Amino acid sequence: MTILLNSDRTLPINLFEYEKQATQHLSQMAFDYYSSGAGDEATLRDNQAAFARYKVRPRMLVDVSERDLTTSVLGYPLQLPLLIAPMAFQCLAHSDGEVATAKAAAAAGVGMVLSTLSTKSIEEVAAVSHQFQNTLQWFQLYIHKDRGLTRVMVERAYAAGYKALCVTVDAPILGRRERDKRNEFALPPGIQLANLALSGLNIPQEHQESGLLVYFAEQLDSSITWRDLEWLQSLSPLPLVLKGILRGDDATRAVECGAKAIVVSNHGGRQLDSAIASLDALSEIVEAVDSRLEVLLDGGIRRGIDILKAKALGARAVLLGRPILWGLAVDGEAGVAHVISLLKDEFDVAIALSGCAKLRDIDSSLIFKK
Ligand code: FNR
Ligand code: LAC
Repeated sequence: MTILLNSDRTLPINLFEYEKQATQHLSQMAFDYYSSGAGDEATLRDNQAAFARYKVRPRMLVDVSERDLTTSVLGYPLQLPLLIAPMAFQCLAHSDGEVATAKAAAAAGVGMVLSTLSTKSIEEVAAVSHQFQNTLQWFQLYIHKDRGLTRVMVERAYAAGYKALCVTVDAPILGRRERDKRNEFALPPGIQLANLALSGLNIPQEHQESGLLVYFAEQLDSSITWRDLEWLQSLSPLPLVLKGILRGDDATRAVECGAKAIVVSNHGGRQLDSAIASLDALSEIVEAVDSRLEVLLDGGIRRGIDILKAKALGARAVLLGRPILWGLAVDGEAGVAHVISLLKDEFDVAIALSGCAKLRDIDSSLIFKK
């Protein structure tokens, strides 16, 4: 029997097929914005290539008849070591946008990080989590020049029940994404910055440039340093997560500043082209941190085995970016749910065939690298 989706297409069987199908549901401008990286897109490609450079040395004759994929991140339980990465403008993929993503995440028991630049508001997305117990939602913060505005967003996130403040540190200015420049990226009518529109902020149009790049230059504070973290921590009791760390010394600094977790990330290759692949950066950081905070990783996760490799190299959990948008574009909440379940099934097979029955069995001895 052939299972049909949206009555006319075969159901994708992996995340790559979701990307292919998503092209048929997205405008060229939206697909380019979602898929592109900065510059030559070398880092974008290398994030995935890095996973192929690490091989697995599976263990045999281990009882894997019962497997447990569950874990916790900052004390919150997850059904598998996965969070959805913060990604802006999800209503470009589907009219339910971030609300659909949040529902699928909560139902699957994985975490979700909401972008400052979301097209559904902090409160609309938080309302989803109230229908589910123990949902892990974090708020991703871009620090605006207007510190009052920034403070209010943090206060709103805290009041709405988000469990951590995820501050993105790799984007003081926006990376140069040539496809967005060519398309003069802007939001179509009816889609707006749900958290900022009330303050009169929007993505500018007609600049012969990416409107997002102009927004960053005009609105975001590119003078942020480690010293500003103290101010951020004074705004709410939320634990601080720093997203975009790529060096051991910066990771040590994050520990010293009181961060509770970091995300090893190069922003999916969208910021500094030629930045190191996040998987390649992981070991040095795990060593530097020495269990003093939780280390997460994103960039290039496309298969269940990739999660195993990241865990074997010391990540507590991973964040998934673009494939979520492909699922959202193809079939809204159901598409996101299916993307998560495909990855979960692959991860389950990966741990079983590597000789692991639970996540604690995954260690660095499983990894081979030439
Ligand atoms: C992002 N990313 C991102 N990061 C962030 O901190 N705030 C944001 O608003 C966004 N927006 C955003 C939009 C889109 C379309 C993409 C693809 C990415 C980066 C994201 O959180 C994550 O670091 C990468 O996407 C992970 O890489 P993969 O899984 O896409 O390869
Ligand atoms: C991006 C920004 C919004 O990567 O983080 O497009």
